[in-house]
Amino acid sequence: MKKDLLSILDLKADEIHALLKRTAELKEMQKGGTPHQSLQGKSLGMIFEKSSTRTRVSFEVGMFQLGGQAIFLSPKDTQIGRGEPVADTARVLSRYVDGIMIRTFSHDMLEEFAAYADVPVINGLTDLLHPCQILTDLFTIREHFGTLEGRKISWIGDGNNMAHSWINAAARLGFELTLACPEGHRPADTVLGNALKEAGNIKVLDDPSEAARNADVVNTDVWASMGQEDESEERKKAFKAYQVNEELLRHASKEAIVFHCLPAHRGEEITAEVLEGKRSLIFDQAENRLHTQKAIMEMLMCAK
Ligand code: CP
Ligand code: NVA
Repeated sequence: MKKDLLSILDLKADEIHALLKRTAELKEMQKGGTPHQSLQGKSLGMIFEKSSTRTRVSFEVGMFQLGGQAIFLSPKDTQIGRGEPVADTARVLSRYVDGIMIRTFSHDMLEEFAAYADVPVINGLTDLLHPCQILTDLFTIREHFGTLEGRKISWIGDGNNMAHSWINAAARLGFELTLACPEGHRPADTVLGNALKEAGNIKVLDDPSEAARNADVVNTDVWASMGQEDESEERKKAFKAYQVNEELLRHASKEAIVFHCLPAHRGEEITAEVLEGKRSLIFDQAENRLHTQKAIMEMLMCAK
């Protein structure tokens, strides 16, 4: 049976650990120039209903390095943009390609697409979740610290798609996750409620310094996500006290690293000093999208 990656909760803990281990192998092979064309002759369709730099390029290059090809599908030039039903598009594309990556607004649309597709579907970001980014971030933590075990992760800012996927990862793997979000911008009750049924290691606070206290990873994201551009000014006020800056990092562990999935707004959710500073692993994170997604595609698209 085909397997999708719509959410981190689609993976068991041992599958996540195996994926991170395979990511390290693939990264080493790519750096060492060792051929690893495990998806030779396969095609990935990539539907983007929102903008992307990292996701688009890393999936496309990743597919090429694995010996396959990727096809960029924009709603502007396909019948998707003219209202062809999701169910029809999913069934038709499944007759041509071996996997489909989708970046869209509605998570329901992604789930409907996956229900009708006969090939694996990968979530390249929805308004609700961003699993490929958080799997990459887990890999980056493992690569930097040697292990995920015992790490304390903090999330400062919006309770958005990124925060939701961090919550799912903490529920599945059991690490400590503390989020600081302003009133009205906390993670969705559905996501948090489900996670808390699985694990008690997740806290949502108001105070960013409290959330950052002794953290090994301090993580943030834009205050207005794609689709929320109209709320930008109002959000700048609501999130003013939630900036990742040197003062906030004084509360974190001495060895703490800083993550941002990018794109970033310097001077808003993160200062230029921190983004460019010695604790920032932000560009390693961006690179690791390539290696992690190669492991994801192998896992889903090589499976019988
Ligand atoms: N972090 C991330 O998903 O970047 P893009 O929006 O550029 O794909
Ligand atoms: N939360 C951001 C992430 C971008 C990669 C957004 O959805 O726009």
